[in-house]
Amino acid sequence: MIRVTAKLLGPSFTTRTGIPVFPVPETKDSPMPEQDPASAGAIDDLDISVPHPARMHNYVLGGKDHFAADREAAEKRLAILPDWRTGARENRHFLGRAVRYLTAEAGIRQFLDIGPGLPAAGATHEVAQAVAPGARVAYVDNDPMVISHARALLTSTPQGSCGYLHADLSDPEDILAKIAAAGVLDFSEPAGLLLLAVLHFIPASLDPPRIVRTLLDALAPGSYVVISHLTRDHDPARVSRSMKVGDQIGVPVRSMTLDEFEDLFAGLELLDPGAVLVSEWRRDIPGPRPLPREINFYGAVARVRRHRTVPVQASPGVARASSAADSTS
Ligand SMILES: C[S@@+](CC[C@H](N)C(=O)[O-])C[C@H]1O[C@@H](n2cnc3c(N)ncnc32)[C@H](O)[C@@H]1O
Repeated sequence: MIRVTAKLLGPSFTTRTGIPVFPVPETKDSPMPEQDPASAGAIDDLDISVPHPARMHNYVLGGKDHFAADREAAEKRLAILPDWRTGARENRHFLGRAVRYLTAEAGIRQFLDIGPGLPAAGATHEVAQAVAPGARVAYVDNDPMVISHARALLTSTPQGSCGYLHADLSDPEDILAKIAAAGVLDFSEPAGLLLLAVLHFIPASLDPPRIVRTLLDALAPGSYVVISHLTRDHDPARVSRSMKVGDQIGVPVRSMTLDEFEDLFAGLELLDPGAVLVSEWRRDIPGPRPLPREINFYGAVARVRRHRTVPVQASPGVARASSAADSTS
């Protein structure tokens, strides 16, 4: 096992809104050297011999921040599911459309983006601040390398701010406590909660719907949640095989049926067009649409009501709202 050990002793300073900023080295413009601690980042215990979702995702999107183990693991999955690239790209487009909608039309000015991945074009703060320069974004990720690249993403407008918190989605209470302690977001005001292509890394034993509910319960009425999640509904054989590869390489993922995915939004107002493949959510890209089997991610955006009533065991009907401009219920 190759371990890269350097120093990350915690936030070195905070922005004027109290958001922690971590010391990081310059970002390299080439694939990460395999054994160069200085280049790898100011990271404690970064194990580059083990593939990691963020770096595999970066490789699939054509980024530069990955190690040999990530590339090999990603190629194994791509050999079975070459359309993974299309799905990952469409998922990013969905993120952009959803954040643009929330900022431009729903008036959201603060976002909690959990599992943002390594820096890539169209990051949440870029999209939001292009509409509202004062928008604030808190990024939360459990990958030390994502944290080490914070500086690359922390190019907030002077009016707004963004920052990173190192935490794990499997412990939503910890995420909320850290955000409260850092004063990153003001949960008395509406916020946008983003869980894009991250929830499927949480094992079923940890009850992913409960994790979503815990985060939702912290949000003010008029907040929104955006989720995308792997599904096997449209290409069961190949997605199942790619999931087996995920188990073998130590990056297990779960899938959801459409019903299971819709249940995540229990008690919320699901915006039109509801829970659909990410490529179909308010698509504004010209040209031919990808086939469903090329996507394999469901996506949806929903609004938090004033009084959210969530059934304990889901199989609820999902309310729909045509626009975020609708009145609170
Ligand atoms: C596939 S990438 C998705 C990136 C981006 N959200 C997107 O949709 O393009 C998954 C991200 O989730 C992060 N992640 C995976 N498991 C996590 C966990 N348990 N807690 C926090 N982040 C996690 C990974 O480090 C990575 O940054």
